[in-house]
Amino acid sequence: MAASRSCTLRFMILFSIASFLYQSCYSFLSPPSSIINPSKVKQVSWKPRAFVYEGFLTDLECDHLISLAKSELKRSAVADNVSGKSKLSEVRTSSGMFISKAKDPIVAGIEDKISTWTFLPKENGEDIQVLRYEHGQKYNPHYDYFVDKVNIARGGHRTATVLMYLTNVTKGGETVFPEAEESSLHTTPAKDDLSDCAKKGIAVKPRRGDALLFFSLHPNAIPDPSSLHAGCPVTEGEKWSATKWIHVDSFDKNLAAGDNCMDSNESCERWAVLGECSKNPEYMIGSPELPGYCRRSCKVC
Ligand SMILES: *[C@@H]1O[C@H](CO)[C@@H](O)[C@H](O)[C@H]1NC(C)=O
Ligand SMILES: *[C@@H]1O[C@H](CO)[C@@H](O)[C@H](O)[C@H]1NC(C)=O
Ligand SMILES: *[C@@H]1O[C@H](CO)[C@@H](O)[C@H](O)[C@H]1NC(C)=O
Repeated sequence: MAASRSCTLRFMILFSIASFLYQSCYSFLSPPSSIINPSKVKQVSWKPRAFVYEGFLTDLECDHLISLAKSELKRSAVADNVSGKSKLSEVRTSSGMFISKAKDPIVAGIEDKISTWTFLPKENGEDIQVLRYEHGQKYNPHYDYFVDKVNIARGGHRTATVLMYLTNVTKGGETVFPEAEESSLHTTPAKDDLSDCAKKGIAVKPRRGDALLFFSLHPNAIPDPSSLHAGCPVTEGEKWSATKWIHVDSFDKNLAAGDNCMDSNESCERWAVLGECSKNPEYMIGSPELPGYCRRSCKVC
């Protein structure tokens, strides 16, 4: 009797120790990734509304996004060889890749974190796009909002952009807002640290793990022209970034379009995975008057 009780007790103690160890190891291995620390956020500009979160991504998360993009590039190269389609090779040489939402726990964790930081629902976000810039590559000044109807059919306007830097860049590669209004608030990096391109306006120097959040719409949902931005040429080193565009409405919701929700080409699904819905919306989505060829795969119906 006594022996069996002490055995039970010993077992319970062992069990609690084991579960404690398990929990602490577990939380060590995968820290709760959606915890946001507001003291790590610095305001970059008020016009446009732009903020940098220092150390938003861990090294592991940065490396994971890069390796996912690399394997996706390899995979699509093989797929295209097999189908013999050469038209799509332009998609790949742009060195951008979309990573489907919640593809794995790490991607889902990053998306949770973005949602927590921005106070914007996950379903309003597009798939994360990973981009690689090599020497001399840049992104000319542009807005993230669209002016055509086709591109806002799904989820409405893009309201916010979270741009995550996955690598340090030796020289260049800054994100610059040429129309930003200088304010005394923001902390510019020392100007001699910046490339010439970045000296015009307000610039953010890419730093591995940092994330830049800016809004393309005013709070009243009218496009904000001061959100014009560019990626300066990379003059030394290589730049990897990951972008999450967030819309004013759900990007996942299938628009009620009734009966003719179909793909007109057998490759639609694959094109959609390759990001063609955003890159080539005229063909893929079309307009209400002239529906595109892949409306089903682009989830607009
Ligand atoms: C695909 O094409 C690339 C270059 O065009 C070539 O190096 C590779 O061997 C091809 N792969 C297959 C599976 O045919
Ligand atoms: C990136 O640069 C920062 C300083 O700006 C440095 O603290 C960090 O260790 C660098 N990371 C890598 C991977 O080189
Ligand atoms: C699908 O698209 C490819 C490439 O544009 C084209 O060659 C093929 O004929 C299309 N298939 C159909 C059924 O329209």
